[in-house]
Amino acid sequence: MRLGLAFTKFGHMKNFYVTTPIYYVNDAPHIGHSYTTVLADILTRFHKIIGYQTFFLTGTDEHGQKVQRAAAKREVSPQEHVDEYYHRFEDLWKKMDIENDFFIRTTMPEHKAYVQECLQKLWDKGEIYSKEYEGWYSVGEERFFGEDELDENKCDPISHRPVEWLKEKNYFFKMGSYQQKLIDYLESHKDWIVPDYRWNEIRGFLRQPLNDLCISRPKARLSWGIPLPFDEDYVTYVWFDALLNYVSASTAFHKTYKDGTPIWPATYHLIGKDILTTHSVYWPTMLMALDIPLPKHILAHGWWLVNGGDKMSKSAGNVVNPMDYMEKYGVDAFRYFLASAMVVGQDANFTHDGFVRRINSDLANDLGNVLNRVHRLVLNNFEGKLPAIAAPLDDAANEVITIAKRVITNVMEWVPQVKLSQVIDEIMTLVRSVNRYLEVKAPWKLAKDPALKDELATVLFVSAEAVRLSLCLLWPVIPTKAQEGLAMLGSKFTDQNDLVWGILKGGEVFGEGKPLFPRIDEEVKKPEPQQKPKQNKPLTAADVPAAMDMRVAQIKEVADHPDATSLYVLKIDAGEGELRTICSGLKNSYKAEELQDKKILLFANLKPSALRGIMSQGMLFAGDLDAEAHTCKLVSVPDDAKPGDRALFKGVAPSEPRELKVKDFEKIALSVKGGAVFCDALALEVNGKPVTCDVADGNGVH
Ligand code: ME8
Ligand code: MG
Repeated sequence: MRLGLAFTKFGHMKNFYVTTPIYYVNDAPHIGHSYTTVLADILTRFHKIIGYQTFFLTGTDEHGQKVQRAAAKREVSPQEHVDEYYHRFEDLWKKMDIENDFFIRTTMPEHKAYVQECLQKLWDKGEIYSKEYEGWYSVGEERFFGEDELDENKCDPISHRPVEWLKEKNYFFKMGSYQQKLIDYLESHKDWIVPDYRWNEIRGFLRQPLNDLCISRPKARLSWGIPLPFDEDYVTYVWFDALLNYVSASTAFHKTYKDGTPIWPATYHLIGKDILTTHSVYWPTMLMALDIPLPKHILAHGWWLVNGGDKMSKSAGNVVNPMDYMEKYGVDAFRYFLASAMVVGQDANFTHDGFVRRINSDLANDLGNVLNRVHRLVLNNFEGKLPAIAAPLDDAANEVITIAKRVITNVMEWVPQVKLSQVIDEIMTLVRSVNRYLEVKAPWKLAKDPALKDELATVLFVSAEAVRLSLCLLWPVIPTKAQEGLAMLGSKFTDQNDLVWGILKGGEVFGEGKPLFPRIDEEVKKPEPQQKPKQNKPLTAADVPAAMDMRVAQIKEVADHPDATSLYVLKIDAGEGELRTICSGLKNSYKAEELQDKKILLFANLKPSALRGIMSQGMLFAGDLDAEAHTCKLVSVPDDAKPGDRALFKGVAPSEPRELKVKDFEKIALSVKGGAVFCDALALEVNGKPVTCDVADGNGVH
């Protein structure tokens, strides 16, 4: 692909080096691994199309006990084992259209030599020391346990096998001595860890004294590793080997951007929240000790959950195999789903029905529909050749063009901030605006009257150009389908220069039509309520803000409650096509027609309860207006918020899904300050913008 190039204010090219974790080679890849890798691929492609030089690294983590054991079991050498197994990742990435620039394996000689070089350097500087360690050691679990962790029979608490008292020398990195330096770094780089609540988590972790890090295992216990250069009887243990891959790609393998600039420091390390501490504490202190610049950002995404709350993992036996989805529904549909269905940072629930619903609504209905309509109309009325604009642009056409220009600007701005799901939503608003435009102009009716041919031409031209632009912008997500769709319009995507309004000129010969995203004809169940009730320990007031699941919803129907004069029964769209019934005491404050189509904030994980015989699945938030008249004012969500968007307290990580009771909510108090909704000092936000309420300052929100 040819590039339109982006430059810094000093005239250097703008660079983007992104990494994924190197995955344990022994595990079978599942959608969790696919997610991080697709995210990296899409972000790389988005940066490419806005003119950055990019480098994208992924790979496999190939040393350690598990590999050694798995190889022994198969009666092959560990090297033979990993040489065979790493292909499962490499092959999957090829099938998923992942365009990584390098695939690093920790067993590569260059990497091993580089790790040894770093260890030697730290040893020479006195940053590594050895220490005897004594304790209860479990052979089954291959680790030490504290006296208080053992069970009643003096066995380890996991495999319940006898432990033995072991005295062992190991090597330690003086991580603790970098605590203050790391704190200072975090304080002066508040966007170093994204999202902000992960920054808070690490900042909180550093309030406890930071220990030194054990970096070795005796060879007698673990032989499949990189030997310490200063003690042949030891190998280095997991993280010291694995984390250095991000730099060894640059230093030992001499990987550079196209213009020769070395790739380190990375722009973004993408990781799951499971390995946040290793990346935000071990890694920067190692780099500080080695005098290597730190990566620019760490982005920790949430987990794909299954069954409404369990982490997908091999040991739980609940993994979703990406191959099944790609074979059945196509690579691009799967990529689109992963990228759009998870707000980066938060957990997301994977359900088959959720997949089908999203593909059908976004790709088959919205995108597929608009493309097919335009294609068919040009074929039937202009012999398959796009007409040029023939009648003046009216307001409806100008609105589409305005949206198109706004979308381009926002994509350019949001891509470097890695707001991926927002970028995709924004592009889809353009797609939907074309569908609306077609509904309003009804070109199929214009086509019936020869006198309206000029108007028809204009409608089709404006629509085709907007669809072209949408497909170009979606290329990073659905590279193959985007080009196929563009071919239908007699166009293609080449580079950044295509990302402007007005590339189609008229006269383009349309290609053959085909359904890009056929509707998935499967019966899907109504979405399950997002939370499955779980038995959890009681919440303290401090836990409540993180545990509240608040979502934007839209009122679809308003009816009087048959048995209660103050209540309405509302049908609301809670996102992803999920309809809920809510009973709400809004009658003193709102007429039914004022509520129709209104966007509200739903408290989605409140235990359902019957109000005068009708089950209310959650409640909605409103500020107190007049205590005596019992009137209230609904809270307002940002204009561009959509049903399903989650509201979060700024800086607070949402906790695992669970059901709350009214008495949990009563442990905290929400109120209005300066027009915005707060819980003490915590501001409530949707997509980074405040949730507001038009009542007097200091009034409560209930
Ligand atoms: O931790 N949801 O490798 P790993 C979302 N080798 N992402 C998930 C996920 C899920 N349910 N499950 C896994 C290791 N992931 C080390 C890393 S890096 C120097 C060494 C993704 O095979 C996510 O990116 O256990 C997570 O951080 C990673 O896979 C863990 O992969
Ligand atoms: Mg893991």
